[in-house]
Amino acid sequence: MSGNKGVVYMGPGKVEVQSIADPKFEAPDGRKIEHGVILKVITTNICGSDQHMVRGRTTAPAGLVLGHEITGEVVEKGADVEMLDIGDIVSVPFNVACGRCRTCKSQDTGVCLTVNGSRAGGAYGYVDMGGWIGGQARYVMVPYADFNLLKIGDRDRAMERIRDITMLSDILPTGFHGAMMAGVGVGSIVYVAGAGPVGLAAAASARILGAAVVMIGDFNKDRLQHASNVGFEAVDLSQSDRLGDLIAQITGSNEVDAAIDAVGFEARGHTGGEQPAIVLNQMMEITRAAGSIGIPGLYVTEDPGAVDDAAKQGSLSLRFGLGWAKAQSFHTGQTPVLKYNRQLLQAILHGRLPIADIVNAKVISLEDAPKGYETFDHGAAQKFVLDPHGMVANAA
Ligand SMILES: NC(=O)c1ccc[n+]([C@@H]2O[C@H](COP(=O)([O-])OP(=O)(O)OC[C@H]3O[C@@H](n4cnc5c(N)ncnc54)[C@H](O)[C@@H]3O)[C@@H](O)[C@H]2O)c1
Ligand SMILES: [Zn+2]
Ligand SMILES: [Zn+2]
Repeated sequence: MSGNKGVVYMGPGKVEVQSIADPKFEAPDGRKIEHGVILKVITTNICGSDQHMVRGRTTAPAGLVLGHEITGEVVEKGADVEMLDIGDIVSVPFNVACGRCRTCKSQDTGVCLTVNGSRAGGAYGYVDMGGWIGGQARYVMVPYADFNLLKIGDRDRAMERIRDITMLSDILPTGFHGAMMAGVGVGSIVYVAGAGPVGLAAAASARILGAAVVMIGDFNKDRLQHASNVGFEAVDLSQSDRLGDLIAQITGSNEVDAAIDAVGFEARGHTGGEQPAIVLNQMMEITRAAGSIGIPGLYVTEDPGAVDDAAKQGSLSLRFGLGWAKAQSFHTGQTPVLKYNRQLLQAILHGRLPIADIVNAKVISLEDAPKGYETFDHGAAQKFVLDPHGMVANAA
């Protein structure tokens, strides 16, 4: 290992590729650990969650090394690692989880109780998530490796499907979790808000779970066109502020069985301005009585760039009485990736889930990350995958 480099958040609108320290077997508080591995990063993706930070909409400090969507090769391991070997190719759930606490034991690894001094839940390269160093880099350290990592058995097969496998670290399980939590099953009528990568992954998940109709709403014409190209019903929200009417044009009814919020707190309203609660309120309106709403879209406890003082503290103007009257269920939070990634890997390896094409994966070099961030921020219908060692480019 030599010459580590990573993508560093420098302040609103600015990321840079810089030389960074080589990873160490060390927790963020400086404790030495033996349960970790060091990975040579094969792929690491840019996420809408990163964009919230890079747009200056969180309290992320300048100097943060970004990156929570990581696939890599084990190049070093600590003395306590028993189930992984040098050379293994592994998918890293974006959650840092200890595997030992109460919530980890019930597979709620998105809210591990021990890996973050200030709240439940840890992640790599993310504000408020415990200070674990990000993996948009050449090398990264992953703690509790036996518990966290998913080994991709066959190296050649792994590299053959690497563009799909790279989506297992976050967006595919996240979309799948959204669909599961919304109660999607055979014959469901489903609405997904947001045609970004998470929305497309949720739609793909709804389809594999047997949904009868999968609609995706957005304002972004390129993303709607792409969603339609890969087989979903695109709902152009600029046509009307009455979502129920737009849905009825497709299904004949203004209600759906299941709704998934793949937008989060930077949601926009019909007229273009930001309305952080609009997706949640619309979902209560369009979801049937006793239906469920999956909410992978991110909501924050502090938003320095919010439209009003309440929203700056994460308080939104929700019409909660409507959801209550309809006896709806709401499911929020960081996705517990390792509840789903093994099964989804099988779906990928057996050709049942061409997720890279569905999200329009675009592989770029680590050096081009700033350009990737900018293009993604402008709403490109693409999911950017960084290839820090040229391993994907060379395998192609
Ligand atoms: N829960 C988790 O574990 C988890 C994991 C990954 C991502 N996320 C979150 O999921 C969300 C989506 O991620 P992404 O990478 O697809 O982001 P993205 O920013 O690429 O996509 C969001 C899309 O929502 C659209 N949009 C804005 N207002 C809308 C509205 N009112 N109705 C419908 N669409 C609207 C935008 O035009 C954009 O295309 C983000 O908030 C991200 O932080 C959560
Ligand atoms: Zn992500
Ligand atoms: Zn734990």
